[in-house]
Amino acid sequence: MNGKLIVLEGIDGCGKTTQCHLLKDYFMKKGYKTVYTREPGGTFIGEQIRNILLDAKNSNMCRGCEVFLYAAARAQLVAEKIKPSLQKGELVICDRFVDSTLAYQGYGRGISLELLNQVNSFATNGLMPDLVIVLDLSVEESLKRLKKRSCGSDRLERENMLFYESVRKGYLDIARSKNTHVVLDASLSIAELHERILSVVEERLF
Ligand SMILES: Nc1ncnc2c1ncn2[C@@H]1O[C@H](COP(=O)(O)OP(=O)(O)OP(=O)(O)O)[C@@H](O)[C@H]1O
Ligand SMILES: [Mg+2]
Repeated sequence: MNGKLIVLEGIDGCGKTTQCHLLKDYFMKKGYKTVYTREPGGTFIGEQIRNILLDAKNSNMCRGCEVFLYAAARAQLVAEKIKPSLQKGELVICDRFVDSTLAYQGYGRGISLELLNQVNSFATNGLMPDLVIVLDLSVEESLKRLKKRSCGSDRLERENMLFYESVRKGYLDIARSKNTHVVLDASLSIAELHERILSVVEERLF
């Protein structure tokens, strides 16, 4: 039996990691073998690439380097973790996936979406998620949450508001064009949003 790949997407601070863990705990309690993983990272090699990408000392990284580092981490994650887990029939919950590249590098930095789609499909070997939940939140609110979390030193978190507005719009555009995607209002409380996510997952995948 094939497993299922659920991806949570959205701008920095919208609540992806919080909701991924709640979703994982829910399905574990129900007895499903569930794997949580994150991008960039999720493997020994990928976590090293993540450190390079998020290191404030690397603020002069060019866009091409950034695209290929994300793709490199993703290729390793798919080959080493996601694909084998799906083949074992497990539920995989992934904190960001290919749409992050389209939203940040495409809509945010203006790189051709066609090119990014090619890089993505090379990295994933064509693997697509069964369900993508986009957590939509205003840029203002997401920056407030990030400040509260007090991790403001990551390179990406110091980008300007306009950049994040483009990324948010990118996610909404992508979601509109795909029937595997659902947009949810991430300004809800953690508990309410978890309930909404559960209904979508139950309705779409079970
Ligand atoms: N629905 C919510 N309402 C209020 N605060 C929230 C909500 N969801 C998450 N938070 C808080 O906002 C902060 C960011 O949440 P979280 O780390 O889950 O976001 P993220 O999308 O994973 O961010 P990043 O993209 O930086 O990894 C955390 O401090 C978290 O506790
Ligand atoms: Mg997170």
